[in-house]
Amino acid sequence: MLTAVDDSARTRVAVTPMKAPIGALVECGDVKTMDARTFDAVHRAFLDNLVILIRGQDLAVAELLAFGRRFGELSPAAPVHKGQKPREYPELAVISNVVENGVSIGGLGDGEAVWHTDSCFNDVPPSASILYSLEIPPVGGDTGFSNMYLALETLSAELRKAIRGRTIKHDKRYTSGGQLRPGYTGEEDIRTTPGPRHPIVRRHPETGYDALYLGRRPHAYVDGLPLDESEALLDALWGHAADPAFAWHHQWKVGDILVWDNRCAMHRRDAFDPAARRIMNRTQCMGTPIAEATGDPAGPRHPRAA
Ligand code: OGA
Ligand code: MN
Repeated sequence: MLTAVDDSARTRVAVTPMKAPIGALVECGDVKTMDARTFDAVHRAFLDNLVILIRGQDLAVAELLAFGRRFGELSPAAPVHKGQKPREYPELAVISNVVENGVSIGGLGDGEAVWHTDSCFNDVPPSASILYSLEIPPVGGDTGFSNMYLALETLSAELRKAIRGRTIKHDKRYTSGGQLRPGYTGEEDIRTTPGPRHPIVRRHPETGYDALYLGRRPHAYVDGLPLDESEALLDALWGHAADPAFAWHHQWKVGDILVWDNRCAMHRRDAFDPAARRIMNRTQCMGTPIAEATGDPAGPRHPRAA
């Protein structure tokens, strides 16, 4: 499948979809000097493939933020976890396991980050996340992505019915690496703990297609259900959504950029050797309020969920 780009852009941007239902390699030259027309083709590839990989880049912090801004206004990064260095730039999150003088220089540590979408615990979660690698371990720390248009398309009629009109309460307390943020004990009741409610099926504001929006499994709650029924429904939804058939995993090289769409894709990260160093810079774009959708099977299908 080749992404449609206009002919003038085709000479400058090559889009090669991954052999998976999500992700594409985008060859566009140096992102620092990209003209508007070239960026349009890159942005189209992002909407069409949910995640794009751009390799061989050399970006200072300000240059990464400038590239991120082309996808939309940047949003402030989520609060740091306990024992993490305060942010130097509000719009830059350092993702790293490196500890200097007893203080973590970034978030997420060296463990597995379970399937999630970024900052689903915000009232208006980010649209795009842009992650750029500075140092990577020799093995491990791969990042995986999963297509939530496809997860919705392939959901059983029974589960579609069970989630119709329902919302999930998204827990604010933990990072996707499982680390508690300051101000919480971890003892709070998941039905009432701070965090917004979002529809389980959402309509993408730019592509118009519906996608499953689960956020993250730990500490989630389906509003209005007895706790045991909420747990059973979430387990069934996650049992489906985490199917490896919907996913693609990326093995990093220094200088790689991944841009993913939090409105229709989930991601995760493999653990890696704690003795190795991994340093990434990340910025995110401000989203728009989440639009609820029915996700009825008769609706149109995103090209990568067809
Ligand atoms: C993130 C994230 C995964 C990784 O930055 O939001 O989940 O591979 N990162 O570091
Ligand atoms: Mn994340």
